[in-house]
Amino acid sequence: MADFVFLLKNVLVVSLAMNMGLIWKISYDDDETPTFKWGGLQQKLHIHGYSFNGDKENIVEDEEEEAHVSKRSKLQATTSSRLAPDVWEIQSLVINLDHGDPTMYESFWKQRAEETTVMTSSWQHISYFSDVNNVCWFMEPGLVSAITRLHKVVGNAVTEGRHIVVGTGSSQLYQAALYALSPPNGSSPMNVVSAAPFYSSYPLMTDYLKSGLHKWAGDAYEFNNEEPYIELVTSPNNPDGFTRQEVVKGDKGILIHDLAYYWPQYTPILLPADYDIMLFTVSKSTGHAGSRIGWALVKDREIAKKMTTFIEINTIGVSKDSQIRAAKILQAVSDSCDHENQKEEESFFDYSFKLMAERWKKLREAVNKTELFSLPSFPQETCSFSGRTFGQLPAFAWLKCEGEVDDCESFLRLHNIVTRGGKHFGASMKYVRISMLSRDYEFKLLTERLPAMNK
Ligand SMILES: Cc1ncc(COP(=O)(O)O)c(C=O)c1O
Repeated sequence: MADFVFLLKNVLVVSLAMNMGLIWKISYDDDETPTFKWGGLQQKLHIHGYSFNGDKENIVEDEEEEAHVSKRSKLQATTSSRLAPDVWEIQSLVINLDHGDPTMYESFWKQRAEETTVMTSSWQHISYFSDVNNVCWFMEPGLVSAITRLHKVVGNAVTEGRHIVVGTGSSQLYQAALYALSPPNGSSPMNVVSAAPFYSSYPLMTDYLKSGLHKWAGDAYEFNNEEPYIELVTSPNNPDGFTRQEVVKGDKGILIHDLAYYWPQYTPILLPADYDIMLFTVSKSTGHAGSRIGWALVKDREIAKKMTTFIEINTIGVSKDSQIRAAKILQAVSDSCDHENQKEEESFFDYSFKLMAERWKKLREAVNKTELFSLPSFPQETCSFSGRTFGQLPAFAWLKCEGEVDDCESFLRLHNIVTRGGKHFGASMKYVRISMLSRDYEFKLLTERLPAMNK
């Protein structure tokens, strides 16, 4: 921080005194780090600690993203003036922590670029089919092996006696599971519930086709009718990070366990999860959201078949290129955990755990400096994978505005921080969800801005 203040002062004084617009030249070394040249002296100014990544954007309305929430803000260039950043520019930078884009793992994967690169030729992966003997006939056998191995290494899910269904992200598998579990000729659509605060995409994904097969029925705590229902159990939960069990006590329910965050960088692994339908994704486990690969572990063969049918009708399978890439990455994660293969290198989960722990420490320090906000606290438990004892380190911070601020999202927006307000999760607008998975410079700006705010 002291370095940064010193650096900013220098930048400001020099730039005012010497007509900086003419003197500073910016050139980009690579797509991550703008390099500022001043005379013969080349300074790498990682803005605010500080590195940019080419997201040269600031405030544009109306974007649909992971969140499926309209009227979104997008970051736009504040550096496009090609001048050195001054204090005003940095303060007016809009940081978008609305969606959980897992870019913070990028550095790890850059270090492993060579061993995780996948080369494919034009003649490869041409067929629709991968393994006609498998229930999920478009699933690459290499991905089946990689998933099975990783769950064994981490100990977070039972794979024995399960069918694995691959999807274009776990989002597609969610819809496939609703299709498979809703009776085709029911007298009314199947109720779909999840305990609030619930993942904001569930209501949207459930209802957007108005299929007649299922309908969003809201907060599971408030569901008390006698009709059949599907309950989504998200554990650890998005947005608040807590470990969860089912909530509805009826006997007509079917459960889907969304375990996107049941990985040892976010939560102590206590037991291998052993449920009927479990959803996982590379988006949050390894950070490869752009590959769009998720998988379901399904006990019942008929349900696995129906889920496969849904994907067959929806997209006639899942990209083989993505599956092969995901398999390579998951194998690399398992290799990095395997002590025999470790070559003194840090495993992916060691790296990501330390990063999450450090970020949560910094966020809590920032929040503790002000009376304006509070964060949830979590019980400490021992992780069977790492042997570490710790409380949850969620991928999102579920921040509460204390005192008189009733709309925390708007309040933070005034301070150029874009978050997602509680109403999207079936909760109060005193809460916001903030991504903890952004790039370093955005996270750093967040932890500097929060304590500096006044009502
Ligand atoms: C709980 C939960 N489930 C599912 C998803 C979607 O994952 P995918 O990118 O695999 O579609 C997310 C993404 O944020 C999530 O938080």
